[in-house]
Amino acid sequence: MVEAIYKPGLEGVIAGETTIAAVEQTSLSYRGYNIADLAENTTFEEVAHLLLYGDLPTSKQLSQLQTTLAQVRPLPQEVIQVLRKIPTDVPMMDVLRSTLSFAGHFDPVKGDAPDDLRRRAVWLMAVSAGVVAARFRLLKNREPLDPKPGLSHAAQLLYQAIGEEPDETATRLLDLTLILYAEHEYNASTFATRIVASTMSDMVSAIVAGVGTLKGPLHGGANEAAMNMLAQFDSADAASKWIREAFEKKHKVMGFGHRVYKNGDHRAHILEDELRTLAEQKGQTKWMEIYDAIKDPMVNEKKIYPNVDYPCGLTYYLLGLPIDMYTPLFVCSRVTGWCAHFIEQAMNNRLIRPLSRYTGPAERKVAPIAQRV
Ligand SMILES: CC(C)(COP(=O)(O)OP(=O)(O)OC[C@H]1O[C@@H](n2cnc3c(N)ncnc32)[C@H](O)[C@@H]1OP(=O)(O)O)[C@@H](O)C(=O)NCCC(=O)NCCS
Repeated sequence: MVEAIYKPGLEGVIAGETTIAAVEQTSLSYRGYNIADLAENTTFEEVAHLLLYGDLPTSKQLSQLQTTLAQVRPLPQEVIQVLRKIPTDVPMMDVLRSTLSFAGHFDPVKGDAPDDLRRRAVWLMAVSAGVVAARFRLLKNREPLDPKPGLSHAAQLLYQAIGEEPDETATRLLDLTLILYAEHEYNASTFATRIVASTMSDMVSAIVAGVGTLKGPLHGGANEAAMNMLAQFDSADAASKWIREAFEKKHKVMGFGHRVYKNGDHRAHILEDELRTLAEQKGQTKWMEIYDAIKDPMVNEKKIYPNVDYPCGLTYYLLGLPIDMYTPLFVCSRVTGWCAHFIEQAMNNRLIRPLSRYTGPAERKVAPIAQRV
């Protein structure tokens, strides 16, 4: 008999083992590679290979992955028809959740051996990006576009959404955010996908659970919530006034704080440097003044640091992307981490089934219905 322990929110509890990522106060690594090294020296496709296959690809392996992605990129017509039917005011995260579930009925991969699961993961990478791009176009009354051969995953996503090949800066920055978002061990959505895997359910069901979990503003939804907060200010002074009120009223400030990182999020540091350069290039330094007007008092007075969602929201905004697309873009990246965890759980499974502490009424007798008050 194992002795039961209770920690609200499972804080500090080790809920399983993993070889995929290590989240430490002082570092973040994917399969032993430091995130800063990956951010500087790899592309998202290489990181996807690292997560799904266990190591960075050789040139041949990378080109195989790119070929498979190109083969599975076109969305089934049935999926596009469903997208046309979803009302325009439905949030893109909900669209993605429903459409990924529906697309599961057209899964081209058969079987559940590890290699089948990896190919299914690559297909899910392609479908999630395809759905986000197609929804973007349909909302603008434009037809979804066929993929264009030869583009990177990030450039392809932007091309299929916007209809023009993105410039180098936009491609690089989207690629960087996809790398930074790809994996983060037992965060809430990954844990949800592992729970689904642990019942021996299927990968698409697990990914749908992941999308639903990521949507919340305490998790991935924070990139949209943070940008919605910044977008209400027209000056740094307005932001400073607002943060004072937020302190007084003890409001949560979205894009700040983290369950594990208590001295800052490594991903936020990496992205913030790039964001400052982007804002200068675009002549939009006003946004960095607003950004700092919230960040400085949070860090200096509250010692609560930005997480990756804070700079990410503004990065996407300065790239001209609609706010409703930010958490879906997070999905397009994290789907790789979720699938890696699904495979890891499935290959060495034990049903995830914790206990609860009962705090309800003591045992009592059922009264006949006529006597109940
Ligand atoms: C991510 C998050 C849920 C982690 O929460 P947690 O580990 O449960 O941290 P706690 O709620 O215990 O926070 C400790 C203290 O810091 C405060 N705090 C944490 N994040 C805060 C934030 N974003 N804004 C204001 N105060 C915050 C808490 O209110 C708490 O204060 P208290 O001790 O006076 O009650 C939390 O930081 C948060 O809600 N952040 C905003 C949403 C967000 O950006 N999510 C993306 C995460 S990557």
